[in-house]
This record gives sequence, structure tokens and C-alpha cells, in this order.
Amino acid sequence: MSKPTPVHADMDQFDTLDNQILVGGKKLDVIEGMLDKSVFYAYDKKVVKAQIDKFHRAIPQAIKLHYAIKANPYPALVNAMCEWVEGFDVASQKEMLIALQSNMPVKDISFAGPAKQESEIKAAICAGVTLHVESELELSRAIDIGQQLGILPIVAFRVNPAFELKASGMKMGGGPKQFGIDEERLFEMLPELDYTKMHFRGFHIFWGSQNLKQDAIIDAHNNTFELAQRLVYATPVTVETINLGGGFGIPYFPGETRLDLAPIGDNLATLLSSYPKLAQLELIIELGRFIVAEAGIYVSKITDIKVSRGHTYLMTNGGLHHHLSNSGNFGQVIRKNYPVAIGNKMNLDKGTEAVTAVGPLCTPLDTLADKMYLTDPQIGDWLVVFQSGAYGPTASPQDFLGHPHVAEILL
Ligand SMILES: Cc1ncc(COP(=O)(O)O)c(C=O)c1O
Repeated sequence: MSKPTPVHADMDQFDTLDNQILVGGKKLDVIEGMLDKSVFYAYDKKVVKAQIDKFHRAIPQAIKLHYAIKANPYPALVNAMCEWVEGFDVASQKEMLIALQSNMPVKDISFAGPAKQESEIKAAICAGVTLHVESELELSRAIDIGQQLGILPIVAFRVNPAFELKASGMKMGGGPKQFGIDEERLFEMLPELDYTKMHFRGFHIFWGSQNLKQDAIIDAHNNTFELAQRLVYATPVTVETINLGGGFGIPYFPGETRLDLAPIGDNLATLLSSYPKLAQLELIIELGRFIVAEAGIYVSKITDIKVSRGHTYLMTNGGLHHHLSNSGNFGQVIRKNYPVAIGNKMNLDKGTEAVTAVGPLCTPLDTLADKMYLTDPQIGDWLVVFQSGAYGPTASPQDFLGHPHVAEILL
């Protein structure tokens, strides 16, 4: 059997009262009563806002923050976000409709994603959102559909840059990629395009996700400004906006620590003064998980405890069908534990026995926490998985085996 999990960084973003975790000031028993459900995701508005404030304290004001709805499209959360961020990025028609039904002005909504279907391109043009065009054929389809509709498509080009994000689990630029148009090809295209057939807005330079290394992000920003400057000079019409990418990560696993935004912000301030022409444009950083992941917990109840050949299993009513990424099956090579706790026994000493928490699916993949030290787990206790506010229910196979879907609440 492998070794017990080492200790995670402290999850200190939630308040506690009488050793109970609070979400939006409410205990889990109270939330259970409100929802009439004992398995749920609970998102805390205050924690979302604190994370956004952290961004604004460090990053120069000239750079806008957009929220990538894919991280968590829960409509109440998206609506609340309208007050705190300056735009949304959507990745499908469904996400686009959620964004359009919020208070976010349509001019601040963009639609990115490879393999967009004609129906999605049409929907985006009808709605008036900015299409982040990811291939040459997508551009000609957008122009044709725009002409049929008598509407000028609003477009920006997603660039597959030649550089790549160092030290990232999820690289989305550099080398061959399904995302965007290769930078070298764009430089050939830009002088040749008929700009009267589109409302051209600018460039989307997205290079990766979930990065916890300040230096790697600084390096990517340096490369992004250098590339953006060359793109602006190569474009015969006005460039309005540059999306500088995202990539800010959050700590999930033992040994990981929170990103220090101060050096990233200082470097961006230097870049703004080194590239005065770019500093006049609308500049955007687009983030998903950094904004919402720390604000969400996934909660289930321990319904049975059994011992198999000396090892203790906590049986719960939650599982990977609700939270695939926690189970280690959403892009992890080797499964590592998310931080977990007993939500009604916070701030107390952990037990000395490493236990495993599992869900109801008949596969060993359905593991919520593997060989972790928890505080005196008992039947009826709440198992809380932290860092669960992003890529939760909508990134999970909720219909697998036909168990009930999970509830969500924003408090
Ligand atoms: C274009 C684009 N924007 C934003 C994101 C959000 O990434 P994260 O949630 O890590 O910030 C992604 C992630 O896949 C993406 O592809």
C-alpha cells in the first residue's frame, strides 16, 4: 500500500464557528436543510470577492479582468460576478446564453474554443459577442454567415504563439496545437485580409492554465507583449484589444503554495511603460479557476465505515460522478489528494490513522480522499473537499451509473 498523504497548505479561506466550517456564514447542517440535500457544492461569495480583490491589488488597473465561465457556469455565480469583473469568456453556445442573460454588456463577452460549429458561429454573430476565431476556415465561415445575416461579425484572432508557458500542466500555446492560428501564419494573413467584411477587434494570446510559478507567468507576459507589439504593427487596421491570456493557478496538492501576484503585477507595470502603444489598448487577463476554485467546497456525508484487511474506508454519498477532477481523472497523470477535512470537526487535531474516503460507484477510481489523516471521522459527519469551486459539476460525468445529480448553492 502507498504512503499516507503529506499535509496540504492550510485552507484558511473559510470562516469557522464551534469547529464547523461556514459558507456564506452558514453551517453545513443549515445548508442541508435549505437544499434538502446532503451532497452539494457550496460557493462563498466573500471568498470569490477576496480573490478578485487580490488580483486588483497586485495587477495594474489598466488591465481588465475577465472571467472564463467554463470554470464554473453556475448562473447565480455568473450573475454575481457581473459586479466584480469586466467581461466574460464563453466556450459554447450554452455558456454564451448564460452570459447574455446576466448583466454583462455584450461588448464584453467573447467566445473562444476550437472546432466551433456553424450554428455556434451564427449564434455568436446574432448575439453580437466577439468571436475568438481559431482557424482560417472559421474566419471565412464567420464572414459568409455574417453576409447571409446582414450583420458584420465581430472578431478577434486567437493566436497560437511560438513560445510556450514553462512549468505548466496545461499548455495551450507553442508547438503544434488545436487552439488558435499559428503566429507565423497570422503574420502572412494580416496584410491580405478584407477588413471591410468584419469588425476586427484584436488578438487573444492564450498560452496555458493552472500555473503556480511566478517566473513562468512573468516570462509568458514578456513574450506576450513582444508578440502583441509585432501583431499590432502588422495589422493594417486599428487594433482595439489584446487578451493577454490567463494561467494563474491555485494550490491543490501537498507542497503547492498560493501564487504570489506581486512580482507578476510589478512586471506588468514595467511592460506597460515599455510598450506605450499597447498600454493605450484594452488589455485583458482571462481567468477561471483562480477566481472561483478556492471559494467552493464539495460536501458529502459519511454513511458507513468499514474496515478491509486493516484499512479503514469511509463510505460517502458523494463521488467522482459529481467531482471528477478530485478523483484524479481530469488531466492528472498520478492521482493526488485535494485538501479534505471533516466539516463539523474543524480546528481539531487530526487522527493518527490514514483513512480512505470513497463514493458509491463500483470502480476503484471513485476515491474522494486516499490515505489521509482526518479528525475522528464518524457516520453522519461531513466530508469536505476544498478547492472545488472550479471544474466541478459541469466537468463531471453526472449520469454515470444513474445516481442523483449534485446540488449547488452560492451563499
Ligand atoms: C481560452 C481559455 N480561457 C480560459 C481558460 C480558463 O483556465 P483557468 O480556469 O485555468 O483559469 C481556459 C482553460 O482551458 C481556456 O482554454
